[in-house]
Amino acid sequence: MAESWVDRLVRRQGWLEPVADAAQGAVGGFYRALGRPGQSLKNVMHGTVPLGHPLHPAVTDVPVGAWTVGVVADYVAHFTDRLPTEAGDVALAVGLAAALLAVLTGLTDYHDTFAHERRMATAHGLTMTVVIAVDALSLALRWWSGDGLHPLAVGLSTAGYAVLIGGAYLGGHLVFGIGTMVNRNAFAEGPEDYVVVGTDADFPEGQLRRVDASGMAALVVRLSGRLHAIAAVCSHAGGPLDEGTLDGTVVTCPWHGSTFCVLDGRVRGGPASFGQPLFNVRVEDGRVQVKLAQPLH
Ligand code: FES
Repeated sequence: MAESWVDRLVRRQGWLEPVADAAQGAVGGFYRALGRPGQSLKNVMHGTVPLGHPLHPAVTDVPVGAWTVGVVADYVAHFTDRLPTEAGDVALAVGLAAALLAVLTGLTDYHDTFAHERRMATAHGLTMTVVIAVDALSLALRWWSGDGLHPLAVGLSTAGYAVLIGGAYLGGHLVFGIGTMVNRNAFAEGPEDYVVVGTDADFPEGQLRRVDASGMAALVVRLSGRLHAIAAVCSHAGGPLDEGTLDGTVVTCPWHGSTFCVLDGRVRGGPASFGQPLFNVRVEDGRVQVKLAQPLH
């Protein structure tokens, strides 16, 4: 597949790496400093709980919508008498207030990006930072500089909106082109009838074992003598759960630390926000068989 122009462009921006190191370090340090409540807050910001899917794309609709209304209201107020000039000011302010949550959720997801994905996310974040700075300056001019500078303030927020479109494009590419925060098991195909994945002796107590279940990787583990199985590919970014660690009934992904219950596949801690597909397991004539507990499609 030929690389798109935006991937080529961003891949060449080596200066983004130290920016990303600093930004990811700051985000990680922020959550670590908060201790245990920090992990709970991080789970909420990822959308792991209570939403059960990524929160950032949902909250970004609010500032984008408000800023769209603001730009339209500014020009309607300027060229007609159908709206007061304050309409655009209020919409701009609403967008900026909502952008705070968008920034926090975005930085939280960004913390667990890597490689080219991380560089694209850095470009997206920097572009949106410019938008917020320009819109904040526009709002300050509107509120504290009187009517004389209102046209300049409108020009600034209009320019900010143009930059916003570019930033939104990068954010869209991050999700739809690169797959950031997309459920890695969304396209998996697995067995809907029992298939043999090994013998009873292949699965010692407490050991994480990866098996092939009709083309889908499954993680099988025996706990208190009973076999359990969930998808082995981490829903967050595809990490191998069989290379993770098991603590009681919870497996931790080796890549970014998402945690899942091996009994039911539920996600316990982010950055993953989707659970793992669950398999039913049975043993017949010493042979271990698995099938998906629910169809994936
Ligand atoms: S791949 Fe990121 S937590 Fe598993």
